[in-house]
Amino acid sequence: MTERIFELLRALSSDDRRALWDAVEQAGDLLREEAVPEAAQGELGDRLVQLAAHGQWEVRKAVAEAVVELRHESFHSAIARLLEDDNPWVVQAAQRTLARRSELTRTDLLKARHETLLRRQLTALEATHGAGARVAALRVAEKYTEIIVRETFHEFIKVISPLDASLRKLDSALGGSRIDAETCRGHVESAKRRLRLLSAIMTSLRDFTKDVTPEFCAENLRVVIDEAVGMLRDRVGTGASGLELEVEVDPAILIDAHRHRLLQAFSNILQNAVEAYDGTEHARRIAIAARTDGTEHVVVTITDQGCGMSDQVRSEAFELFATVKPTGTGFGLPLAQKIIEQEHGGSIDLSSRKGEGTTVKVVLNIEQAQRKQEAQP
Ligand SMILES: Nc1ncnc2c1ncn2[C@@H]1O[C@H](COP(=O)(O)OP(=O)(O)O)[C@@H](O)[C@H]1O
Ligand SMILES: [Mg+2]
Repeated sequence: MTERIFELLRALSSDDRRALWDAVEQAGDLLREEAVPEAAQGELGDRLVQLAAHGQWEVRKAVAEAVVELRHESFHSAIARLLEDDNPWVVQAAQRTLARRSELTRTDLLKARHETLLRRQLTALEATHGAGARVAALRVAEKYTEIIVRETFHEFIKVISPLDASLRKLDSALGGSRIDAETCRGHVESAKRRLRLLSAIMTSLRDFTKDVTPEFCAENLRVVIDEAVGMLRDRVGTGASGLELEVEVDPAILIDAHRHRLLQAFSNILQNAVEAYDGTEHARRIAIAARTDGTEHVVVTITDQGCGMSDQVRSEAFELFATVKPTGTGFGLPLAQKIIEQEHGGSIDLSSRKGEGTTVKVVLNIEQAQRKQEAQP
């Protein structure tokens, strides 16, 4: 056991209320930092269980907060006792710890499941292609991780610096001899906008990396598209009056799809089509059409007459973080591509001319039973 833990255990027996309280907080910090070796968790846990019955409620409350990361069975005795406490603050803290704890357990479980899956894939790779393949795969994965971390950092900084600037301006506006409420509100509003963007980027990042279990069913393409259109109208809200959507999709077409994911892909594409009209005078017209081409596929096109893209923008549009919009995140198309190509085995392409508009072409697989039917003479 380290000297630091010995000292902590000694402090946890102190008679001085303030010192005891500090020691409990310190125990929580060490547990959170994973700085308590497994061998010492039992002793520390037992000490905290005793303190869960301490005469002072402040100490008991501190214990309720400290045990959140205690990885020892004594956690259960401590929390059971604290949940029955006479003091409402102690009970509240214990309830919070319990809620947080179940979240932590879920995250741990998921992480462990992912790691097992990855290890299994690497072992299979090694069995088929030799040890070199395993090393190479790990190297590629590391490189990708580096790229993602670097790009994410860059994107966050791009929002954090102006956010910082807004707060500094607010600070100096508040420090002036005459405080102008209007100016201050302006700085607060831009700080809020930037914070919202930051949180949108983080949510998109999480959605993009989320592992989904595919749940494929026979879906009616028209129904899925109508739902995506409905969601778009709701999002655009009061501004929806200037929105003209033309849907030409045969209601008989069935596709093999993971409905919820495909909806997300179409939503992202439609959102871009609406945003393509930002800053233009045109009526916001979007045409969605689908045709089966006599093969196993259906081709869906989404066409707008918005701002269009230069060749450069179009060639980068599927890259993560690629955006030309002041509040864009650059996740819409990469996510749509991942859903359509990787998850559905389809394809997505863009054709666009700057100043004239864009057509997004999505190819999907027709539902199996329908495919067979159509193949019959
Ligand atoms: N319909 C469209 N019309 C014009 N440009 C588009 C269209 N769809 C996508 N783009 C371009 O592709 C970029 C990436 O789109 P996306 O990944 O959805 O990110 P975001 O919408 O957050 O910018 C957009 O910033 C825009 O430049
Ligand atoms: Mg988008």
